[in-house]
Amino acid sequence: MPSTKRVALVTCRAFPGLDAYDAVLVPRLEALGAEVTAAIWDDRAVDWDQFDLAIVRSTWDYAARRDDFLAWAAGVPRLANPFAVLRWNTDKHYLKDLERRGVAIVPTTWLEPGAGLDARGLHTRMPALGDFVLKPAIGAGAVGAGRYTANDSYLRGRAIVYALRLLAEGKTVMLQRYLPAVDTLGEVSMVFLDGRYAYAVRKEAMLHGPESGGDRLYEAEKLQGGYSPAPAELRLGTEAVAAAMDALGNPARPFLYARADVVPGADGHPVLLELELTEPALFPELAPGGIDLVCRAIMGRLNPV
Ligand SMILES: Nc1ncnc2c1ncn2[C@@H]1O[C@H](COP(=O)(O)OP(=O)(O)O)[C@@H](O)[C@H]1O
Ligand SMILES: [Mg+2]
Repeated sequence: MPSTKRVALVTCRAFPGLDAYDAVLVPRLEALGAEVTAAIWDDRAVDWDQFDLAIVRSTWDYAARRDDFLAWAAGVPRLANPFAVLRWNTDKHYLKDLERRGVAIVPTTWLEPGAGLDARGLHTRMPALGDFVLKPAIGAGAVGAGRYTANDSYLRGRAIVYALRLLAEGKTVMLQRYLPAVDTLGEVSMVFLDGRYAYAVRKEAMLHGPESGGDRLYEAEKLQGGYSPAPAELRLGTEAVAAAMDALGNPARPFLYARADVVPGADGHPVLLELELTEPALFPELAPGGIDLVCRAIMGRLNPV
């Protein structure tokens, strides 16, 4: 009988009992022989050495405290995904690394703090027509993302005020055209386990207006259910995962989990919105066999190869 392996599913104070999409994994992991604990990342009472594997899951409060989060991650001996991956992936500047490697990312104008951008400069950078999106480069759960209409002077003014505020706080602002196909076709999330495509789901558009502030940790995602990606979508997701491995110096082990979120771009070809390697909801019960696939990938990490 092999000794029982201890697994931590890492969460945050707001979700001490795990998110529903992770809670469904617990009975299956236990049936496969693991002992599972929900552990809060910034709970100082947790001894991370005791776990054979700690898996980052619903740590959705990290964006406002990224330095603390990364300092914590650096100190956990067996963490998935590991510190170097989290450091790279918690700032959406990683999209530039993917773009340099040929991945079709959502076209983005990067407004950097310290570049001397004032209201006038922002005004000229924003599109003249159509809807556009502003979001901070460090952010999760759609918090801080807003949708604005270019030729509505009130909304345009709000966008400028919001961008100025983020820049004054030292934050990079990402400016993108709103991709309208999200409203009709939705956003596709492809889940990769151990570097290989496992399953996909589709979710509805999430941005309906300007950034509204407040202290929520995430916007609830409306899932449409399991989905079979088109060849071009699957190719893009696969390329994104490979490019991320390359950007990280091709680590010895593939990512335990990766979620490639893609939407149809202006010309209909899919573009990458994000490659989530930090704390993506994996939606395992929405795909046939999803729970088993995720749990088996986790168990595969517990027995040394
Ligand atoms: N350019 C865009 N066009 C249309 N919808 C967008 C765009 N950027 C973001 N969104 C919507 O906002 C949500 C959150 O943005 P995202 O880039 O995924 O950041 P995060 O999930 O890390 O907060 C997306 O799931 C999508 O619904
Ligand atoms: Mg997202």
